[in-house]
Amino acid sequence: MKVSVSFLKTKDNLVQTLKRIEQTDCDYIHVDVEDGIFVPNKTGVIQSNLQNSLKKLDVHLMCAHPSNFIEIYKNLNTEYITIQAEIKENLNSLINKIKTYNIKVGIALNPETSIKEIEPYLNLIDQVLVLSVHPGKGGQEFIKDVIPKIEKLIKLRNENNYHYIINVDGGINDKTINYLKDKQVDMVVSGSFVCLASDYQQQINKLR
Ligand code: DX5
Ligand code: ZN
Repeated sequence: MKVSVSFLKTKDNLVQTLKRIEQTDCDYIHVDVEDGIFVPNKTGVIQSNLQNSLKKLDVHLMCAHPSNFIEIYKNLNTEYITIQAEIKENLNSLINKIKTYNIKVGIALNPETSIKEIEPYLNLIDQVLVLSVHPGKGGQEFIKDVIPKIEKLIKLRNENNYHYIINVDGGINDKTINYLKDKQVDMVVSGSFVCLASDYQQQINKLR
């Protein structure tokens, strides 16, 4: 299982945190972008801090109007840009916009959002980001109710040959990872479990 590290909640400053993440063997840096509309908090401007990132970025736009953010993140070392299923925008045109930049597309599902909402897009996208916490802050508890949704996404992928990866985001630690280990989950996002510890790599090893 791949590991994408979120730095939304960390005990070090941003520069230090990113440097320490770069020094681990994690697969991606998970960039949580909050707009103050879709979620109450608003993240600061951090593009310059990510400019020289050697790790690929897995960008999670918790944003009601993602267009401008797509323009920003397309210029970085970005492999995935993920938009939220719940926004009131035309998802097809956002998906096409991201693809135009040769960046892979993800759709995120809040814990209460059903797969039905994104069924028309499942054959088009490269990642489904299953949120196992309510979006907006790091350090929350894993919501077990999302497990059937993960199982359904695996089943749908197998039945239809969809190519999306399944990424699970929120409350991942050395205990909750056990709910996912025997499943065809491709990636997990881990934030506070890694960035509140003194040894980031040791925490990542516990997840692998
Ligand atoms: C939730 C974010 C998550 C979160 C992960 O709003 O999308 O990426 O920061 O952090 P932890 O692992 O602390 O739940
Ligand atoms: Zn996230």
